[in-house]
Amino acid sequence: MSSYEHDVRQALQSLDFIKRIVYRSSVESTNTLTESLARDGSEEWTVVVADAQERGRGRQGRSWHSPPGHNVYTSFMVKPAIPSDYVPAISLLAGMVVAIVLEHFTGFAAELKWPNDVLMGGKKISGILLELGSGRPGSPYLIVGIGINVNSDITEYPGQLSATATSMKALTGTTFDRVVLLNYLYRVFHEWYTYYCLHHGFMSIKKRYMQRLRMIHKRVHIESGSERITGVVQDVDAFGRLVLHNEQGETVTVKSGDVHITQ
Ligand code: BTN
Repeated sequence: MSSYEHDVRQALQSLDFIKRIVYRSSVESTNTLTESLARDGSEEWTVVVADAQERGRGRQGRSWHSPPGHNVYTSFMVKPAIPSDYVPAISLLAGMVVAIVLEHFTGFAAELKWPNDVLMGGKKISGILLELGSGRPGSPYLIVGIGINVNSDITEYPGQLSATATSMKALTGTTFDRVVLLNYLYRVFHEWYTYYCLHHGFMSIKKRYMQRLRMIHKRVHIESGSERITGVVQDVDAFGRLVLHNEQGETVTVKSGDVHITQ
């Protein structure tokens, strides 16, 4: 057993809500593995941690660069017992939690790019991928996958990434203990998730999310499936959808997509 695996197990075993810990030194994708464990009937709060991913997955079919030895790649499965309309905004909750955690460790302010990209110093430091599984009838489950660039040397990242991504180390010049980070991340996520489920939805966390949303009142261009929308961001609604005034002056809401600030 590597010392990372040993320390991960010890740190996560101390959290009583975590029911199962699966560690891999290398895996195709922690989301894919968590999904297959969920399909095989694994319990809620099954947590997967890997040191590296061979085919880390991002939103909109993109990939997530996942070299070994430096970063956090983790996924977990929950079964939110809330009305289904409130489930998608758990994606925003996850972004907000990661922002809070990274601020705690680095002392730098984090910004959110809707729905859940976390940026520091204007560059992407974390990505979150939520996937909804149907499970047995009436028992939907949610896979939450989180990647955080912790100690990576970003200048070694391929292509454009070396210009658009950052890591906690690149930002601060300090090396961070991934295990301490993982333990804190799960503790803070669990607290906010419990609160969110009790209070049914995004309005309960809106203030803290909006404080960090970088695109409010900005002109943006959104690619959402085959749709292209240009407008000015007005708000985020109770279900986590982005509310815009489009070029015709109409109010439109967007459930998912890639946002580019144009102004
Ligand atoms: C994005 O910003 O596009 C989302 C990136 C999500 C990456 C994480 S790393 C852990 C988990 N496993 C994956 O394959 N993806 C997520």
